Amino acid sequence: MRRIMIAGNWKMHLNVQESSLLVHRLNERIKVHRDIEIVLAPSALSLQPLSLEIDRRKFRLAAQNAYFKDEGAYTGEVSFTMLRDLVHYVIIGHSERRIYFNETLEVVRDKVAAAFRNDLKPILCVGENKEERKDGMTKQVLHDQIVTALYNLTAEEVAEVVIAYEPIWAISTFGGELAKPSQIDSAIVFIRHQIAELYGEATAQAVRVLYGGSVDDQIARGYLEIEGCDGTLVGGASLNYMKFTGIVDAAYRMIHSQEEHHAQQ
Ligand code: PGA
Repeated sequence: MRRIMIAGNWKMHLNVQESSLLVHRLNERIKVHRDIEIVLAPSALSLQPLSLEIDRRKFRLAAQNAYFKDEGAYTGEVSFTMLRDLVHYVIIGHSERRIYFNETLEVVRDKVAAAFRNDLKPILCVGENKEERKDGMTKQVLHDQIVTALYNLTAEEVAEVVIAYEPIWAISTFGGELAKPSQIDSAIVFIRHQIAELYGEATAQAVRVLYGGSVDDQIARGYLEIEGCDGTLVGGASLNYMKFTGIVDAAYRMIHSQEEHHAQQ
């Protein structure tokens, strides 16, 4: 059984104090959920204080980025090694990193390798832009991003990767068009199919695939109900405790209505 993940990417928002306040508000409203993993990705600066503040039964931390070298003269960078005891996950290959910071397929691959070298799990973001979708290139883009990023990993490691499908055209900061669930379900199937081809069906069934792009509390359920979708990576709405809590509630209600449905059968 793949556990649902609801992850909040706070991007370059909230200083240490504001981050702490948001965690406090979320903590008041979110219960311990056995079947939902809630992941918070604040700025690197807030990771250390939040690692001491969060209720670890409810929340896990993710870094938004890290550099692939473990140590050295790389001014301004934070390594995966430094994050080892602070976070569970690191977001790798977010489209903002690929576009604004020129992260190539190879850089993303080296970061994924660095994460495993340091016992951290990647939340690997993949997704096509508007032109690529229009030109029918979506599968090719996803194929290239996935094949390179997972290069050199064992099937056991791949099973632990979380893949976030985030079509660039649907991300709020890039002027996000709202993606209909029917526009993204084939990409989610394709991602798992790709993993099956490379690493076998058992690995594909273990990998979690999230959706990300303008998800909020009102529309989350539509995405969560897509066959094979194991959660959401949330940007803008994760900064609002009401909206983020609403997304967690949507996941909770969906899981429980499915359980009731099975019980009645
Ligand atoms: P958004 O961001 O929810 O604000 O569209 C998603 C993301 O960039 O991960």
